[in-house]
Amino acid sequence: MRISYLECTRCGEQLSADRPQNVCPKDGGVLFVRYDFASLKGKLRREDLSGRIASMWRYADVLPGVMPVTLGEGFTPMLPSREHSNVFIKDEGLNPTGSFKARGMSAAVTMARHYGLKKLAVPSAGNAGGALAAYAAAVGIEAYIFMPKDVPVANRMESDYYGAHVTLVDGLISDCARMVGERKEQEGWFDVSTLKEPYRVEGKKTMGYEVAEQLGWKLPEGIVYPTGGGVGMIGMWKAFDEMEELGWIGRERPKMISVQAAGCAPIVKAWEEGKSASEMWTGAATFAAGLRVPKAYGDYLILDILKKSRGAAVAATDEEILAATRHWASTEGVFAAPEGAASLVAYQKLRAQGFFRSEDKVVLFNTGTAYKYLDMIEAQQKNLQPPSLATRTIGGIIGPY
Ligand SMILES: Cc1ncc(COP(=O)(O)O)c(C=O)c1O
Ligand SMILES: [Zn+2]
Repeated sequence: MRISYLECTRCGEQLSADRPQNVCPKDGGVLFVRYDFASLKGKLRREDLSGRIASMWRYADVLPGVMPVTLGEGFTPMLPSREHSNVFIKDEGLNPTGSFKARGMSAAVTMARHYGLKKLAVPSAGNAGGALAAYAAAVGIEAYIFMPKDVPVANRMESDYYGAHVTLVDGLISDCARMVGERKEQEGWFDVSTLKEPYRVEGKKTMGYEVAEQLGWKLPEGIVYPTGGGVGMIGMWKAFDEMEELGWIGRERPKMISVQAAGCAPIVKAWEEGKSASEMWTGAATFAAGLRVPKAYGDYLILDILKKSRGAAVAATDEEILAATRHWASTEGVFAAPEGAASLVAYQKLRAQGFFRSEDKVVLFNTGTAYKYLDMIEAQQKNLQPPSLATRTIGGIIGPY
């Protein structure tokens, strides 16, 4: 669909989508893509989707109207749990590059090609870098990736093989972000950091459309989402509003649950303290690499969604996450990324507290495949202290890989 404009989520400022944009120039707010949904209402019906391509681009009508760069991302399985009735596992591990990051990068690289951008840069906890590298490779765009040096081996290797320029950093994703910020102007990079350009949210919002479509257009009572930067949660919430505008769903919304690692839980802390923004988490440490995000750029959006949806924020320890990884694998046949297995921990805790009852329909997001984390899982299992668990301050660049 034609984009009407980009809108700041803080001040409402409207910006043109005719050229690449990052964040609101006035206040740094996250930009959302806005379309004329009223003109689609009644013309695009839910039934029209049947028989369309089994990828996120089946929702092309509600995505930017340009030629997609696709590797077959999205429309992942919605698996009914074998252990818990009314629970579903949304298995994002089946995406290209093995994680849900493929959706956001498919959309971001689609628009980058449309704008004629030649060099994209991203700080990454691991999977976003790998996904960017793959989509950039597919269209001959250069990718510059900054990731902590102790990310899973798979993330380093895939990025290298996809032909990206990889810099390993002795620090956390926040340090990587700072490096991209400092260098981008001089290097001519366009910054595709989480929530610092508007299109990764567009890709990730398709998870919200899929939840609705795959559950027969009735939203569940709860959605559990492993939250680092929170793009998926923000995207799904946007999708629910859009679907309501289209007349596809009513006003009902799931309770949105953020699960974080106990060793890096800034959103959980802010939620428990009733705050509307989070503080930088010091000493971030967890083997769930994607959750090692000490401060989410869109924290104010995440916390607002938790509040509006009457949701919750839950922390899971690395021990609980490892146990859940084995449990899911052995009871469901799903070998989940640690971030994804954290969703099961959150569900177990929320059931024990009576927050969810057995009759509540709840979707647990498995955001990636365990096959990308074999080194981390093995180290955690042996109870070794993998290098990734150590917290360190920035000590310069190690790479390129
Ligand atoms: C497997 C996995 N799950 C969850 C996350 C967190 O995602 P988000 O930043 O969208 O909250 C990441 C981020 O790197 C990830 O790789
Ligand atoms: Zn603004």
